[in-house]
Amino acid sequence: MNQNQPNYPLAERLSWISESETIAMAKLGRTLKAEGKDVISLSFGEPDFFTPEHIKQAAIDAIHQNFTFYTPVAGIPDLKEAIVQKFQRENQLTYQTDQIVVSTGAKNAIMNTVLSLVNPGDEVIIPRPFWVSYADMVQFAQGVPVYIDTTVESDYKITAEQLEKAISPKSKLFMFSSPNNPSGMIYSFDELKALAEVFERHPEIFIISDEIYEHINFEGKHHSIAGFGSLINRTITVNGVSKAFSMTGWRIGYIGAPKAIAFACEKLQSQFTSGTNAIAQKAAIAALNGDLTPTYQMRDAFKKRRDICYERLKAVPGIKLSLPPGAFYLFPDISAYFGKQYQGHVIHNSQDLCMFLLNQVYLVTVAGSAFGNDNCIRLSYATSEENLIKAMDRIKEGLSLLS
Ligand SMILES: Cc1ncc(COP(=O)(O)O)c(C=O)c1O
Repeated sequence: MNQNQPNYPLAERLSWISESETIAMAKLGRTLKAEGKDVISLSFGEPDFFTPEHIKQAAIDAIHQNFTFYTPVAGIPDLKEAIVQKFQRENQLTYQTDQIVVSTGAKNAIMNTVLSLVNPGDEVIIPRPFWVSYADMVQFAQGVPVYIDTTVESDYKITAEQLEKAISPKSKLFMFSSPNNPSGMIYSFDELKALAEVFERHPEIFIISDEIYEHINFEGKHHSIAGFGSLINRTITVNGVSKAFSMTGWRIGYIGAPKAIAFACEKLQSQFTSGTNAIAQKAAIAALNGDLTPTYQMRDAFKKRRDICYERLKAVPGIKLSLPPGAFYLFPDISAYFGKQYQGHVIHNSQDLCMFLLNQVYLVTVAGSAFGNDNCIRLSYATSEENLIKAMDRIKEGLSLLS
């Protein structure tokens, strides 16, 4: 950002954050493709399926009905009602409509929440690996991220003991996603219960539970941490339509939150964005109230692709990998290749390995460092089986060049 004009008088706060690395890698891949290279991208953070027809139809109807004006800042009443019902039906969480805020994607919903809660110097506990934007959001709010590290051996999940140790008198917020981006891991009922018991002992800590991948779950029922004990009183449950309904471009995300936090987020939106896109809100109602068959078909396709990739990657020497039960990412540990080289270029870290794969075998991946774990790279399997088979072959071929 601003690298060509280092003295340009931008506000200092811009230096508190960096450009999203997933977006930066996708840009590099596009440049090579424009040069005519046979590039395969595994950097996508979005399903490669189309939005289901009944959802698109609801948006078309909204346009024809001239539903094109400003909407209430926190969302139109019928969407908020659909969200209340969704939380009750699917998550057994009871919210009132004034606890719901609809935003311009879950990203906007999370940022609103962070800005509403975090004062300068407040500590925010974040398990690593985390979704790229969490740390930057906290830093933008002048909070202090406090990380809890995990490894492939622990399936990238934290324990109650680790959580307890990370808590200090300055802790204000804990934020995590399950199913997780980038690891694909999911906390079980018992694991969430153990974390919830720690939070019950620390009533001053708020929790952002990012459940955007809820429906991309290959194993079983989704569990929300807000459902444990009294945690609904200080949990902000984040969700949206981007991943479950293949609606990333529509930009609808939402929270269920304590009233004071919902009001704070609404206040921020009233000054910065206003109510999100009117037409997309109507489409989101159709998504939430509609049939989940297309979602389950997509989930099943992802599961098949995961298995294709997992079987092939597992056989590559030096790669450590666990089987992710959700989302659409693999997060292999490739640190065995650090210190190896090809034609004089030494691989020092995950970023070097990603650049090596890009330049040698035209494969776009994302460095684990972007997600707070430099031993790994993230591979998204939101692309065709044919591409994935080729991509796994390219990883094997590329890595075999390193010695
Ligand atoms: C864990 C996680 N949370 C939130 C988001 C943001 O989703 P949205 O498209 O609703 O802003 C993403 C998108 O990649 C994500 O991976």
